[in-house]
Amino acid sequence: MVHLENLTKEYDLPPVKGSPAQVVAADRLNLTIGDGEIFGFVGPNGAGKTTTLKMICGLLVPTSGSVEVNGIDVERRPEDAQRFLGYLSDFFSLYDDLKVWEYLDYFAHAYKMPAAQIPARVTEVIGWVGLETKRDAFIQGLSRGMKQRLGIARAVLHDPPVIVLDEPASGLDPKARVELKELLKNLNRKGKTILISSHVLSDLEEICTSVAILEKGHLLRAGKLAAVMQDAAAPAHRRLRIRVAAPGDELLAWLSTRDGVLDAHPSASVIAGSSSVDFHFAGSDADLAALVRDLVMSGAPVCAVEGSSESFEQIYARLSGGEVM
Ligand SMILES: Nc1ncnc2c1ncn2[C@@H]1O[C@H](COP(=O)(O)OP(=O)(O)O)[C@@H](O)[C@H]1O
Ligand SMILES: [Mg+2]
Repeated sequence: MVHLENLTKEYDLPPVKGSPAQVVAADRLNLTIGDGEIFGFVGPNGAGKTTTLKMICGLLVPTSGSVEVNGIDVERRPEDAQRFLGYLSDFFSLYDDLKVWEYLDYFAHAYKMPAAQIPARVTEVIGWVGLETKRDAFIQGLSRGMKQRLGIARAVLHDPPVIVLDEPASGLDPKARVELKELLKNLNRKGKTILISSHVLSDLEEICTSVAILEKGHLLRAGKLAAVMQDAAAPAHRRLRIRVAAPGDELLAWLSTRDGVLDAHPSASVIAGSSSVDFHFAGSDADLAALVRDLVMSGAPVCAVEGSSESFEQIYARLSGGEVM
């Protein structure tokens, strides 16, 4: 559906002695985003998310490389491509003194939709974003989450198959974030392909099918969410926790003598009557099986062996720290 090829954007910087003349905000990005995906662009501020999304929508001309949306070259035929795209920018403005339905009606006319279809379409998108009870409310009285949903309603007015949302969750409270996620899942179920950016990784982890991890214009990793996380999780260094149904330091002492056990330390939370140790383990599944067998054979009352999986945040921190790359 969306295809990026060597997509590059360099911005000229004001001349300052000793500083580079340009910043590379997107550096030869290659990505293919399939039909029906919820595709997340993840990265800290300045990573190049906004720049990339604007180029995808034909709002910013690439320095080099290209974007295709539904087979259409965005730079050559921006208006044709934009029929397939709905875009919500990171800082969009609404007209406070319009009512919800008036705002959508206004844009429907601006998009030159057939006038006879507009009332039904406005009602439909208001339903899509769950603003039925606010239809006649003035925009200035809406909560931030509602304004965000109204922005999304505007972006989908012309029923584009692809929706591009730049940091839609930023500034929303937890409840509004949950509602936004539900809304995006619903739109996705209606067949929309969604491109979404965030610097808050947990916002994307739950809803995205695929992610691209960006930093300073570079694509660090991209692919199916599970694959990116698994690939990045460096199984050679898994984090484990073993618990024995006996208090004391014996487990820690025993583990500390074993090959492959690194950084063993008592777990932060202790269950009464037991002791628990967290450690990194550099070894295969067979090595781990041998460790557990030896521990049981030594007479330790082993009651739990858990792998503590890394959060997306931790993986990201490691990736962008360059340890894995
Ligand atoms: N209009 C601009 N002129 C010069 N530099 C810019 C401009 N827009 C963005 N940049 C720079 O490009 C880089 C990427 O910015 P941006 O795409 O906004 O990242 P993000 O959305 O991930 O925060 C940053 O270093 C930013 O300072
Ligand atoms: Mg941005």
